[in-house]
Amino acid sequence: MISSLSNLTHKILNCDNDFLVMRDSVQQLYNMFKEIAQVDIENYNSNDIFLPSGKALSSSYAAHCLLEMKRTAVFLRGIKKAIDLKLVEKNGKPIRILYAGTGPYATLITPLLPFYSSELVKVDFIEINPISMLAAKRVVEHFGLTTFVEHYFVCDAATFTVAKPYDVVISETMQRCLQYEPQVAIMQNLVAQLPPYAIFIPENITINAVLTSRGKWNPETCISEGVERISLGCIMEANPKNPHCSSRIVELPSRLEEGTRLGLYTKVLVFDGDILEEGDCSLTLPVMLFDSAPFAGHKLKFSYTQGEAPHVSCKILSTGKVISATIGKESNVQKVMIE
Ligand SMILES: C[S@@+](CC[C@H](N)C(=O)[O-])C[C@H]1O[C@@H](n2cnc3c(N)ncnc32)[C@H](O)[C@@H]1O
Repeated sequence: MISSLSNLTHKILNCDNDFLVMRDSVQQLYNMFKEIAQVDIENYNSNDIFLPSGKALSSSYAAHCLLEMKRTAVFLRGIKKAIDLKLVEKNGKPIRILYAGTGPYATLITPLLPFYSSELVKVDFIEINPISMLAAKRVVEHFGLTTFVEHYFVCDAATFTVAKPYDVVISETMQRCLQYEPQVAIMQNLVAQLPPYAIFIPENITINAVLTSRGKWNPETCISEGVERISLGCIMEANPKNPHCSSRIVELPSRLEEGTRLGLYTKVLVFDGDILEEGDCSLTLPVMLFDSAPFAGHKLKFSYTQGEAPHVSCKILSTGKVISATIGKESNVQKVMIE
């Protein structure tokens, strides 16, 4: 069984962008894990947990993350590089890994453990959902990986007190535009307690604002032609050096064609060049806001609000008036109001 796990992981790590191999390997991994963990993807939203810092996904929803094949592949590749780097730096001494938000399969570490010795790699798990933690423990035990895992903490990673000098910390607790889930709160809490040499994964998350013109619909090809994109640059960034998602202001061009939509595009730099970009997975799907043509020449202020429903909001600043569009609830455009 352990050899099936390492064979599949080997394929996922080395298939580059061969999506047939990637999809097949990830699917086989899921088929194995769902039986062992006794958690599958069929029971969405059964046990979401609402925390002061955001929503922790139900075990079925968290299980589903595995099937986002490019997400899983790129995270596993980046995490393997980080572990290998730390092992070299430690030169024969063991490294410590903290994995916050494991889900029911501990997807971002269990597939990698068979490549290492448990003398050299020590892992602690944090998961707020007891059903997911129990499931992850079943996976670890089933594959004989128990000597790698020192502690299973069933608690909130956004308030967890770090008691060990971890070398690598992993947390994928995010959705596109850093909405709903507590990625930023977890990063802020853990990063503040880590030694300076620790690697936090993902290494950087950015949100870019982009204007997209409507173009001209060609009924024969069923394609909009002449669609133009204008980048307004990065409007939000979260990384270990800057985990606070500070507000940023950008200016719209002075002339904009009617129907030019403002969209927010998330990029996730996992580690050392392993990156998830537009369309790679649900984390990097764009969030489309509003037709920006009426606001040509105005400044936009983007801010991040933390709490039970973390979200980015955008205010259109003009003389005496504020127009805002807020994303963060279930639909993309929550409100466009003139004050
Ligand atoms: C998006 S899922 C990802 C699961 C898995 N890490 C993966 O990448 O496939 C996030 C997981 O983190 C857990 N989680 C979210 N917020 C948490 C928190 N504040 N403390 C501990 N666990 C949390 C959720 O319960 C869920 O299992």
